[in-house]
Amino acid sequence: MQKKSLAFAFIALLSSHVHAEMAHADSVNAGKTKIMSCISCHGEHGNSTMAMFPKLAQQNSVYIVNQLKAFKSGERKDPMMATIAMSLTENDMVDIANYYADQKIVAEPEGTFDDAEERTEHDVLVAQGSDLYRNGDLKREVSACIACHGPLGEGNKPAGFPALKSQHTTYLIKALTDFKNNQRGHHNDNMMHMIAVKMTEDEIKAVANRIATMK
Ligand code: HEC
Ligand code: HEC
Repeated sequence: MQKKSLAFAFIALLSSHVHAEMAHADSVNAGKTKIMSCISCHGEHGNSTMAMFPKLAQQNSVYIVNQLKAFKSGERKDPMMATIAMSLTENDMVDIANYYADQKIVAEPEGTFDDAEERTEHDVLVAQGSDLYRNGDLKREVSACIACHGPLGEGNKPAGFPALKSQHTTYLIKALTDFKNNQRGHHNDNMMHMIAVKMTEDEIKAVANRIATMK
C-alpha cells in the first residue's frame, strides 16, 4: 500500500515537473513574438552590436523582469527604455525575459592591438580587473564582485543578481558610473551604489575590461 502511494507521489511530482517545462517553453515561444520592438537595439538573439545597448542573451529572467518594471515605473531612467517599457504588461515582460534568458550570449571578439605595447597595457588592465573581481579591495571596503555575480560572471537567478559575462565594456563602464553617481534606480538595498561609490574610474575601467572577457 505504502509503495503504491509512493509511486503515485512520484508520478505526480514528475508530471508537475513536465507541466512546468511545458509552460516554460510556451512562454519562450510567446516571448519570441513579442520582441519585434526590441530587435533593432538588442538583437534578435539578445546580442546587441552597439556597445551602448546591453546584451540580454543568457541574462537571468528574474533580473530582466525587475529592470523592465523599474523602467516602467521610472525608477530606472533611460529615455529609450521608458517609452518601450510603458507598452509592456507584466505578462509580456515575463515572456520576453524567458525568451532572452534562453539565448546564448556571444563573447566579444578578441581586441585588435596596434603594437605589443598596447597589448601589454590591455593585459595589465584585465589582470587588475580580475584581481578586483575576485578579491575586492579590503582596505577600501570594495566588495568582491564574485560573491554576487559568480566565479564565471553568471549571476544568481534566485537572488536576481545579473549575469555580467561577455557584456560590452562600454555599457559596463556606463552602468558602474551611473551606480557610482547614484544615477541609476536601484533595487536590493542600493547595493551597487554602495560598492561603486568606493571605486575609482580606473578600477571601473579595469573591472569592466575583465568582465567583457569572461565567457
Ligand atoms: C532604441 C533602442 C532600444 C530599444 C528599441 C530597446 N531598448 Fe532596451 N535598452 C536600451 C538602452 C540604451 C539600454 C541601457 C539603458 C542604460 O544605460 O541604463 C537598455 C536596457 C535594457 C534592459 C536592461 C539590461 C541590463 O543589463 O540592465 C532591458 C532588460 C531591456 N533594455 C529590454 C528591452 C526590451 C524587452 C525591449 C523591447 C520590448 C527593448 N529593451 C527595446 C535601448 C533600447
Ligand atoms: C552584494 C551583492 C553584489 C556585489 C558584491 C556586487 N554586485 Fe553588482 N549587482 C548586484 C545587484 C543586486 C545588481 C542589480 C541592481 C539593480 O537591480 O539595479 C547588480 C548590478 C551590477 C551591474 C549592472 C549589470 C547590468 O546588466 O546593467 C554591474 C555592471 C555590476 N553589478 C558590477 C559589479 C562589480 C564590478 C562588482 C564588484 C566590484 C559588483 N557588481 C559587486 C549585486 C552585487
